[in-house]
Amino acid sequence: KSIDAIFKSLGKLYFGTCADSGSLGKADNADVIKADFGQVTPENSGKWDTVEATQGKFNFAGLDTLVNWAQTNNKLVRGHTTVWYSQLPSWVSAIKDKATLTAVIEKHVTTEISRYAGKVLQWDVVNEMFDESGGLRVSVFSSVLGEDFVRIAFEAARKADPAAKLFINDYNTVEKGSTYAKTTGMISHVKKWVDAGVPIDGIGAQAHLMAGEAKNVAASLAALCAVVSQCALTEVDIVNAAPAEYVEVAKACVDIANCVGVTVWGVRDPDSWRASNNPLLFNSAYATKPAYAALVQTIGAM
Ligand code: G3I
Repeated sequence: KSIDAIFKSLGKLYFGTCADSGSLGKADNADVIKADFGQVTPENSGKWDTVEATQGKFNFAGLDTLVNWAQTNNKLVRGHTTVWYSQLPSWVSAIKDKATLTAVIEKHVTTEISRYAGKVLQWDVVNEMFDESGGLRVSVFSSVLGEDFVRIAFEAARKADPAAKLFINDYNTVEKGSTYAKTTGMISHVKKWVDAGVPIDGIGAQAHLMAGEAKNVAASLAALCAVVSQCALTEVDIVNAAPAEYVEVAKACVDIANCVGVTVWGVRDPDSWRASNNPLLFNSAYATKPAYAALVQTIGAM
């Protein structure tokens, strides 16, 4: 049984991975995704610098490839990501006034999300907007609009695809423990926005872990999941991929009723953004590593 099948048998929606046209074009890689994963997240093709590098000129070639592949192969899609301070074209960073930036965010979010309406399970509408002290990261979005950019983006996203679950996604939110300032800051901000009617359905915790951090995931994730209707681990990789640590991370999601799934950030170690750290579940020959077997054995017995 694949880890995706095991996750589904436990009431979860998927066990997924990131991909894009390049990795889907490698037959061995695509075969692993078809067999072992239930969801694909575009690693890069959905980002602002790819989708709208020039104002008003949209490029969906890569994202179309991924979404079409997912439809053909019966896989779910997590959309990633519409509003992010990084991979942001300089024409956006240069905007100085509220009305212009509001209109630009609305057009970008609406155009990207409506194109795939009904085909994407979840969208990371806003990505990495908090700093390590739990406040708003300095970006063009927070500098020009304050926290109102969150409402603007989520309201546009909801209109663009009422069926998609809308997520706010960040890193260092489950790594350091449930009392870490970024974790508690995200919790209090998201709770306030949800209470104010901002259409946020879920929190995504990326979980790019260092060795030894897996033990912090369960309590942190439970605290995050408590303030939203859904939550997920969205970009998991673990330095050295110790089997027990992978099991601990996956089990944290399995144990939380509204945690809907786990996404690992890539298939093979050499294709990872942390390629030198052996962080994933498959080796360079597309063979499963011990962490995969441990997941199947331990989560499969739950
Ligand atoms: O496609 C160009 C290629 O044409 C060019 O020759 C080459 C030269 O540098 O760059 C290629 O683009 C790179 C792209 O990955 C595709 O490989 C970018 O430089 C590189 O910055 C980009 O890195 C991605 C990174 O996000 C930045 O967007 C990683 O693949 C991707 O794994 C990583 O993913 C992020 C999540 O989106 C958000 N959370 C953190 C996570 C890890 O950084």
